[in-house]
Amino acid sequence: MLGFPGQVMLLLWLVAQVSSRSNVTRCDPGCDCREDLRFTICSRAFFTQPPGIIPDSTELLDLSDNLISVIPKHTFDKNRKLRVLLVQNNNISVVEDGSFSQLEFLQKLDLSWNRICTLTAGFSVGLTFLRELQLAHNHLTSLDTRSFLHLDSLQRLNLTSNRIQAIHSRSFTSMSSLRQLHLEDNRLTSLTSGAFSMLRSLEILNLAGNRIGTMDTGVFNPLTSLTLLNLADNQLSSVGFKTFLSIHSYSTHILLRGNPWNCECELQRVFRKLRSIQRLFLDDYYNLTCREPAVLQGYPLMDVDSELCIAETVTVLIITVTVVITVLAAMLMGERKRKKRSKRLHWTQQADFSDESDF
Ligand SMILES: *[C@@H]1O[C@H](CO)[C@@H](O)[C@H](O)[C@H]1NC(C)=O
Ligand SMILES: *[C@@H]1O[C@H](CO)[C@@H](O)[C@H](O)[C@H]1NC(C)=O
Ligand SMILES: *[C@@H]1O[C@H](CO)[C@@H](O)[C@H](O)[C@H]1NC(C)=O
Ligand SMILES: *[C@@H]1O[C@H](CO)[C@@H](O)[C@H](O)[C@H]1NC(C)=O
Repeated sequence: MLGFPGQVMLLLWLVAQVSSRSNVTRCDPGCDCREDLRFTICSRAFFTQPPGIIPDSTELLDLSDNLISVIPKHTFDKNRKLRVLLVQNNNISVVEDGSFSQLEFLQKLDLSWNRICTLTAGFSVGLTFLRELQLAHNHLTSLDTRSFLHLDSLQRLNLTSNRIQAIHSRSFTSMSSLRQLHLEDNRLTSLTSGAFSMLRSLEILNLAGNRIGTMDTGVFNPLTSLTLLNLADNQLSSVGFKTFLSIHSYSTHILLRGNPWNCECELQRVFRKLRSIQRLFLDDYYNLTCREPAVLQGYPLMDVDSELCIAETVTVLIITVTVVITVLAAMLMGERKRKKRSKRLHWTQQADFSDESDF
């Protein structure tokens, strides 16, 4: 039996133990907190909102595969050490303005497989050092000048499989460090000048699987570091020579298969010129097939290539020759007529003279 002081001592010791342990294990029941490793794993825990307790020391927080639908404003205010935040595969439709404003060390943010449909200017506040942003498989419909306003250090942006129909001019202006932009599997129908302005460091631009049918001549002009431009599986039937010529990087690979090419001679002329440019590589040129004209549907562009244009050249030649012959013939006829008339004139004059001499 312990005396009173002994009991007090024991109680104090217990309190100390509990409080010290609670420091170590201050962790939400649904999470696995490894403070020694600085990560907190709360994946697949049926959370419908972010957990209340996240150790301050956490550098990697995994909230993936839950049922979170809103990220409220001050959720991560105490987690200033976060470097990686994984929230993919939730039910998020709302990211409140300033949710990430305290995360100045955050380098990677994964919000893919959610239901986000708009990004306001407040979304990116504070994410000045973010390098990678995953937003694939969301419901975004358009990008405007404010969507990515504060992402000055971003290097990789993944917007694959959204519903983006329009990229407004200067949407990516702040992102002069961006190296990869993934926009595949969206609903873009045209690319207008200014869409990619300021993306001086962009190396990979993936636009595959959209509905792009028209591109402004200068749209790729600002991209001086581009190494890969993927335009496969779009609605292009023709391209302008200058559109690709304006890419001024050292070497650029361009992918164009899966488009409904109109294999008229004009297109073939464009491709012939493009292929002669040293810094451009049309990697899948041999896989391009024609949609139009109807007689050439399904044929590889490179096969119909010469025949069609030889036919055209021959037609042009025939027409030219015909015209020349006609003109020559006309001239000859004219000349002959003139000669005849002058002969006749001469003859009449002579006749006149003889008439006179009769007098
Ligand atoms: C527990 O945390 C409190 C405040 O967060 C701190 O003052 C105390 O020193 C910590 N105790 C241990 C054993 O780490
Ligand atoms: C997902 O969020 C929507 C509202 O955005 C809500 O109606 C729905 O019940 C949520 N689903 C789940 C599984 O929580
Ligand atoms: C973009 O996101 C999709 C879906 O999450 C993923 O499969 C793909 O690997 C990502 N691409 C890059 C370059 O991060
Ligand atoms: C593309 O062309 C190459 C070489 O001609 C061929 O081996 C490949 O199967 C083609 N791919 C498609 C998708 O047509």
